[in-house]
Amino acid sequence: MSEIDPNALRRALGDFATGVCVVTAAPDADERIGMTVNSFSSVSLDPPLVLFCVANTANALAAWKRTTHYAINVLAENQSAISNRFARAQADKWEGLAPEPGVTGAPLIPGAIAHFECAAEHQYPGGDHTIFVGRVVAFDRPRPNAEPLVFHQGRYRELTHQHDIAVPADALWLLGW
Ligand SMILES: Cc1cc2nc3c(=O)[nH]c(=O)nc-3n(C[C@H](O)[C@H](O)[C@H](O)COP(=O)(O)O)c2cc1C
Repeated sequence: MSEIDPNALRRALGDFATGVCVVTAAPDADERIGMTVNSFSSVSLDPPLVLFCVANTANALAAWKRTTHYAINVLAENQSAISNRFARAQADKWEGLAPEPGVTGAPLIPGAIAHFECAAEHQYPGGDHTIFVGRVVAFDRPRPNAEPLVFHQGRYRELTHQHDIAVPADALWLLGW
């Protein structure tokens, strides 16, 4: 195995386009945390599990480990400013925002396309990150027709509909997706 160049690896991983989410939680009555992630992934439909990864250097890592619930907010294409806001270590990421608490008490980002509220289920070591697996206990899609914010090669993108190709309806490899 050849030596892995971290910068080259980062560029190669950036070839994989993702959506952008803000993960939010209220670990205590007077504490709200939130961070932008593109490591969100669906894991399982039954039971309904999702995951995201937090850098072990994140300021709020201890709070993420402690919180019993969190919400994953899928950002719309007009929310790059929200993404930037929650990607900076700053005193109050929430200033001027009026998040509604969801059924789990996690603060929901207004204007998001979808919210997945989760009960914290597992934490796994993942190298320089920690992997958080949550069980979806509630979700909603307040803007089902809004376009998603896309992240690719370190830049925000928007979807183009010039290429809009259906996958075969009988595709067994989709396994229910
Ligand atoms: C598009 C995008 C995706 C990101 N994805 C992740 C991620 O999956 N995991 C992570 O730990 N940080 C990710 N970050 C960086 C965090 O959002 C950033 O470090 C944040 O300030 C951490 O919050 P804290 O240090 O205040 O706890 C991402 C940033 C951007 C802009």
